[in-house]
Amino acid sequence: MTLELQDIQGTVLNNRPMPYFGSYVAFRINDAGSARTMLERLIPHITSAADWARPRENAWINIAFTWEGLRRLGVREEILDGFPIEFRQGMAARSAFLGDVGRSAPEAWDFPHGNNGFHVGLMVMASTHEGRDEKLAMGRRALEGLAGVELAARLDVGVPPTLREHFGFADGISRPFIEGQGGEPLPGQALTKAGEFLLGYENELGQLATGPGPEAFWRNGTYIAIRKIHQDVAAFRNFLRMSAADSAGQEKVAAKMMGRWRSGCPLALSPDADNPALVADAQRNNDFAYFEDDRIGRKTPVGCHIRRVNPRDGLQDTMAEARLHRLLRRGAAYGPMLPEDAVEDDGHDRGIVLALINANPGRQFEFVQSQWVNDGDFVSEGRRTDPILGRRDRADDFAYPDKPIRRRLAGLPDFTATRGGEHVFLPGIGGLRWLAGMQAGDP
Ligand code: HEM
Repeated sequence: MTLELQDIQGTVLNNRPMPYFGSYVAFRINDAGSARTMLERLIPHITSAADWARPRENAWINIAFTWEGLRRLGVREEILDGFPIEFRQGMAARSAFLGDVGRSAPEAWDFPHGNNGFHVGLMVMASTHEGRDEKLAMGRRALEGLAGVELAARLDVGVPPTLREHFGFADGISRPFIEGQGGEPLPGQALTKAGEFLLGYENELGQLATGPGPEAFWRNGTYIAIRKIHQDVAAFRNFLRMSAADSAGQEKVAAKMMGRWRSGCPLALSPDADNPALVADAQRNNDFAYFEDDRIGRKTPVGCHIRRVNPRDGLQDTMAEARLHRLLRRGAAYGPMLPEDAVEDDGHDRGIVLALINANPGRQFEFVQSQWVNDGDFVSEGRRTDPILGRRDRADDFAYPDKPIRRRLAGLPDFTATRGGEHVFLPGIGGLRWLAGMQAGDP
């Protein structure tokens, strides 16, 4: 089985350069004709998975739509009704289920999130500033003379040269290997059916993943759950300082909460001390499982971030199967880094924008967020939530096996707050052509 790389938007399959410069640009559609003209102009510039790897390419652009955006483009009612409920309702409407409550509630989200504030999103990535600006200029040209599409917001993101996210962890190490993507899986990389991440292919349930309306519209498309999450770096650092007397102890607490040392080295392979050399070795840095080796979480706590969001083989004696809830992640930081060692907040907004790619937003992103991030029942942890980003109104403690006795950290503050969320549809290149060419009311 091979994937139709020339028809798949590049961000689904391709890893970004590290470091990189990116922008999310959001538009509102006030007139379908203008939006289709913009789309027609943009299509030749949209980067497919086949284009991505071209040697001289150093900037990439992809495009996605909210459900309201497709409606405003003129997609017929029966087709719109056939989309999954999560996408139809939009992420703000799902907030109670997803745990976006209190300071994470949609009322507190940044514009243009929530309330159908945006309809089309451009994702621009480049290995240089100039590359990004060139693509943004191209996006601006596509809008020229079109009164019916308006720029709503732009957020610059990127992976800084340190390759660390704001809390100081190396990210982007573990990812599924998609059947048909080419090459061989790395040790520990689960081989996953393409239908988990792309419409038009068989999924892990042995079913063909499809979309509504004609195949020309949905083939090679997928959904992305976008999460904009504010990170309170000072709160995180202060909590670590209070949790252990010396920096070695503090690093251990950080690692226990994440499941990897801040270098990215997995606790599963190096439980007692960090081993940065291991991170550099792609044959080893993800080569671990939990069931046989660490069922009760002596090394990697069952409630830590990475074991929650991907329990690997660790749920074998339960009804759940991790392979049905996989996510492809594209994460990037926004806002300036808090200077190293600062423990006072400097008032700058900062955080992470996650693009979580999935062909079934209910079974994948929403399941992971509601059952695994924001609940602990699946690993007998009661109402305990993810120590890094879980909601704290259910439980605010985190516990892990330690010597001589189990360690329990109480009073975890909110290290994060959701500032935006959106389910978007990322069509294949053929699907974009279909959208640009259809007449309102076309089949
Ligand atoms: C403040 C927000 C977040 C931060 C700082 C964060 C950070 C990290 C880090 C440092 C890793 C380990 C690196 C790696 O394994 O590649 C990781 C892994 C992962 N994260 Fe997050 N994350 C955040 C939110 C989320 C959310 C909301 C989800 C999904 C609901 C998620 C899903 C994952 C998954 C699936 C993995 C891979 C785990 C594995 O395969 O072992 N993360 N995250």
